[in-house]
Amino acid sequence: MKIVKVRDYEEMSQAACKIILDKIKDKKHLVLGLATGSTPEGLYRCMIHAYKEGKISFQHIVTFNLDEYLNLDQNHPNSYHYYMKKKFFNHVDIPKKNIHLLDGMATNYIQECQQYDEKIRRAGNIDIQVLGLGVNGHIGFNEPGTSFISRTHVVHLDPTTRKTNSKFFRDIQDVPKKAITMGIANIMESKEILLLVSGKKKELALARLINGEISEQFPASILKKHQNVTIIADCAALSKMCKENGN
Ligand code: F6R
Repeated sequence: MKIVKVRDYEEMSQAACKIILDKIKDKKHLVLGLATGSTPEGLYRCMIHAYKEGKISFQHIVTFNLDEYLNLDQNHPNSYHYYMKKKFFNHVDIPKKNIHLLDGMATNYIQECQQYDEKIRRAGNIDIQVLGLGVNGHIGFNEPGTSFISRTHVVHLDPTTRKTNSKFFRDIQDVPKKAITMGIANIMESKEILLLVSGKKKELALARLINGEISEQFPASILKKHQNVTIIADCAALSKMCKENGN
């Protein structure tokens, strides 16, 4: 795993943005795996800015989002469909047909999961997957204990995840108890992975990822087995390493 140290959230977002825009310039039909949550918001702002300045077009890229809550309508302000439209898709030229998100309202979840896996496979797998890091080590909504060979599946959200994500909801009771997520195997099949980590609250999780052992109890640890992972982390998340280097 390559670790890129940056000063703060803004620098992390700019660095991730540059990597992705360069990839799109290299490969017009890039298959991009996307995340939601607080971490990638700055990245989306940067990509929108580049588009508005005429520096990039997203017309040919194909996207797959990592996850979605179960039983939240696509127009619900807390759904990841809504988040992606509001924070990225509505502001750029990506055609609707190129956007893939899991349907949290599907009538047949098994079929929804299998079809998502198949769509990723048919797209030739993900070229670059953006990930955030859960404080409990989750990636996507693959909570501790998830099998490393899992594919897209339905999960029970960990109480810590529901508590953390309750900041986006009116009340913790409103946070869905289940979600649907790409599996660890899907993520590991991505050709390249970009893990973004910012803030002191991620410090312990990041230290465990870097120094700890590979275990299904800490899902992100599997990334150590991937050939092409770049972690872009800011000083707050990497505080010890930054201090050692005088940053
Ligand atoms: C979101 C996702 C999650 C988040 C993680 C970090 O699509 O898959 O794994 O990346 O929970 O969330 P934030 O960025 O809000 O700290």
